[in-house]
Amino acid sequence: MSEKPYSPIPVTLEKDKRYSWCTCSHSENQPFCDGSHRAAKATPPLTFEVAEEKEAYLCTCKRTSNPPYCDGSHKV
Ligand code: FES
Repeated sequence: MSEKPYSPIPVTLEKDKRYSWCTCSHSENQPFCDGSHRAAKATPPLTFEVAEEKEAYLCTCKRTSNPPYCDGSHKV
């Protein structure tokens, strides 16, 4: 069987930088918003910042209970 789709994407998040996490799955720049939700009339992005630089796995399946972070829901 091939690799599961929608695996989380590892990213380095910079302190105090504003990020827009795609909530609608239409972005071609996952896990971040590229503005495609407007044409799709879909849900807007979730904006967030982090207090300290850190490595994180951001959700791409959009089923996480802890957005924008992966909580393992893609495996279910
Ligand atoms: S493209 Fe998905 S939230 Fe903007």
